[in-house]
Amino acid sequence: MTRPNPTIALYPGSFDPITRGHEDIVRRGLRVADRIIVAVAHTSTQSKRGLFSVDERVELISEVFDDEDRIEAMGFRGLLVDFAAAQGAHLVLRGLRAVSDFEYELQMAQMNQELNADIETLFLVPEVSNSFISSSLVREVAALGGDVSSFVSPSVLERLLAKLDG
Ligand code: PNS
Repeated sequence: MTRPNPTIALYPGSFDPITRGHEDIVRRGLRVADRIIVAVAHTSTQSKRGLFSVDERVELISEVFDDEDRIEAMGFRGLLVDFAAAQGAHLVLRGLRAVSDFEYELQMAQMNQELNADIETLFLVPEVSNSFISSSLVREVAALGGDVSSFVSPSVLERLLAKLDG
């Protein structure tokens, strides 16, 4: 397989909401890709109750990466590999925080490989200080009144607190 130029990578996920851990992975991704599409899935493999709508998540991600025009956010329906192909992306980025992530990630990467052999999954590792952050814990801690200000960007924090208030 030849390396496409420019390299477009997809960073897919639920991002409900985007955390500092996700931000870390996206910015690391710019070391291997020229452009990154942060792709918010309407359908997630692990069933989750959503807090933000997909449109709100896309909006939050766009705000977080307002300073970087190589990063854009989009929502998608259907299969990840189909969306990647439609966007001309041959690279899928995923973050690996701990061994516990590995089985789920390996299974998805291999399924995607089976569905479209032209798409490679690349795993990136966040900084240690971001390793324990997950959107679900951020939602839970914030809902119970805990301080999550160091786990999400200020614009996400503001929208999160407003959402939980209303
Ligand atoms: O952040 P998440 O919820 O772990 O991300 C999972 C995600 C969205 C990447 C995965 O569920 C996905 O790719 N959904 C799109 C539908 C799809 O292609 N399913 C088959 C995956 S092997």
